[in-house]
Amino acid sequence: MKNKISKILFVSLVVAFILIVLGCAADLTNANKPGALLWGENCGRCHNVRPPSSLTDSEWDVAVLHMRTRANLTETEAEKIVVFLKAAN
Ligand code: HEC
Repeated sequence: MKNKISKILFVSLVVAFILIVLGCAADLTNANKPGALLWGENCGRCHNVRPPSSLTDSEWDVAVLHMRTRANLTETEAEKIVVFLKAAN
């Protein structure tokens, strides 16, 4: 009897865990990702990631405009990355 209860508890815990993980994954579609995360995921794919401090605000405008087409980013994604880079440089 005791064993059955722990089994049920264990299964419920596993189910709860899976639901939490799936919930978080669903939350992190590209549209909800913050700029810093988008930057980390995209801007080091083809070359070493350039630190925010390597360019000025207006240089980042130009660089991200250029890189947006290379990295295949949406306007919103590129915009969030620029905001992050300008805040961190
Ligand atoms: C699909 C590949 C690819 C991705 C993804 C990519 N880049 Fe680049 N990046 C390049 C290539 C190739 C160059 C060098 C040649 C050029 O200027 O096109 C470059 C050059 C640069 C430069 C130097 C520009 C210069 O004038 O010296 C910066 C800064 C840069 N990338 C930033 C970024 C940022 C920020 C992101 C993310 C939004 C990004 N890159 C994503 C391919 C990529």
